[in-house]
Amino acid sequence: MTDKLIIFDTTLRDGEQSPGASMTRDEKLRIARQLERLRVDVIEAGFAASSNGDFECVKAIAEIIKESTICSLARANDRDISRAAEALKPANSGRLHLFLATSALHMEKKLRMTPDQVFEQARLSVRFARNLMSDIEFSPEDGYRSDPDFLCRVIEAVINEGATTINVPDTVGYAIPELYGNFIKNLRERIPNSDKAVWSVHCHNDLGMAVANSLAGVKIGGARQVECTINGLGERAGNCSLEEVVMAVKTRKDYFGLDMGIDTRQILAASRLVSQTTGFVVQPNKAVVGANAFAHASGIHQDGVLKARDTYEIMRAEDVGWSANKIVLGKLSGRNAFKQRLQELGVAMESETDINNAFIKFKDLADRKSDIFDEDILALVSDESVTHSNEQYGFVSLSQHSETGERPQACVIFTVAGTEVKGESDGNGPVDASLKAIETHVKSGAEMVLYSVNAISGSTESQGEVTVRLQNSGRVVNGVGSDPDIVVASAKAYLSALNKLQSKADRVAAQG
Ligand code: KIV
Ligand code: ZN
Repeated sequence: MTDKLIIFDTTLRDGEQSPGASMTRDEKLRIARQLERLRVDVIEAGFAASSNGDFECVKAIAEIIKESTICSLARANDRDISRAAEALKPANSGRLHLFLATSALHMEKKLRMTPDQVFEQARLSVRFARNLMSDIEFSPEDGYRSDPDFLCRVIEAVINEGATTINVPDTVGYAIPELYGNFIKNLRERIPNSDKAVWSVHCHNDLGMAVANSLAGVKIGGARQVECTINGLGERAGNCSLEEVVMAVKTRKDYFGLDMGIDTRQILAASRLVSQTTGFVVQPNKAVVGANAFAHASGIHQDGVLKARDTYEIMRAEDVGWSANKIVLGKLSGRNAFKQRLQELGVAMESETDINNAFIKFKDLADRKSDIFDEDILALVSDESVTHSNEQYGFVSLSQHSETGERPQACVIFTVAGTEVKGESDGNGPVDASLKAIETHVKSGAEMVLYSVNAISGSTESQGEVTVRLQNSGRVVNGVGSDPDIVVASAKAYLSALNKLQSKADRVAAQG
């Protein structure tokens, strides 16, 4: 019998709680498809009771994803649980994830409940959930800072009521690997029915130890499920990063001795998709998925790698999805070559119309840029205008004039609900003038809290990828746009952020 580690991805739920990382329904569906290709065991698709939008997302993901288990978070009350169960109805395999805080601090200050009330609510909520679904996960929120005696009492009771997975969150990222591993080990040893449930770890990264803590929970504590997110996305300093934890368990199989179902070759595509969707850029020195993760700059290292790659490489770049040959397509490439490259990159397009639209954009790009890299293709398909022709705002064209000593002028043509409008303005620079030109019509009143430009494939020939973060009435959204002309990329990013601002509904937060 193999000892399997279950990979539970919560990019679409805990990851999305990161300010500015909120995603549209279509974006979530694309990410869910990529997570399925990555073969994660469980996809936490959202928190169905938090808003109608979240409910619809969980339901839509449950309808289309057939290989992974689809999970919805729910507070430990009948209304939330019923709503989550309703959203999960179409799933091949569904899971309810109930949470209730158990630390003294959270019970007293946040819930204003006594430990006995929390105990009863935990027990009864699992009993209620178990009548609706057989796969039930229970999380004592802030579990790591909870009193172990009380935690043992609660966990024993919820397992008796039928909880099948027990997740022990380090909600505030306070744990230290050895201590967290032993914390879980002790719980498992003390709770008489602990063998009736799968134990799970869920670590936040406030002290930079989420991956180390999760691995200690597995190795020392005996947990067999890790909760994680692509690129470590998540509230504050984020969650345990899926790519790091998976590659650690795979690369050091000699130490962990565990199997996983993950197709690691899909890791990079997942990382890129999440980064481009949320606008959360991956730092170059990030393990596994950073641009420098497999680059050998020093002469000694390069020489060693050329003689025998394992002198300095412990993983193969191809195994996590980096392609050996970087220039992939050019001006003469046909639709079939383009479609095949999309498939190799793990990009699924919903219809032939979407492929045709993307191919037109590709041809347009190839006319302006001689070599097309994988990064260009991924940026192109993440451009919303390729797949979302029904957005409120759409980019059409831009002209601008700038000259040393003169104030730049810009004219932007864009669509508002399908009708073309023209905005003109001056500004401090061409980007400023272009965004102000858009605002002459939109008058969003939004505050820009981040503007960043990244050269997609590293040279001045490359496309610029622009991220714009806007804040309005307490909501924060990111828009991403790409183009060889960074002023155009900026206008696209701005319009994409405006689209998100006007489509977001308020929702209940999972924590706090
Ligand atoms: O960090 C946390 O405690 C959570 C729970 C809701 C599982 O995300
Ligand atoms: Zn969390």
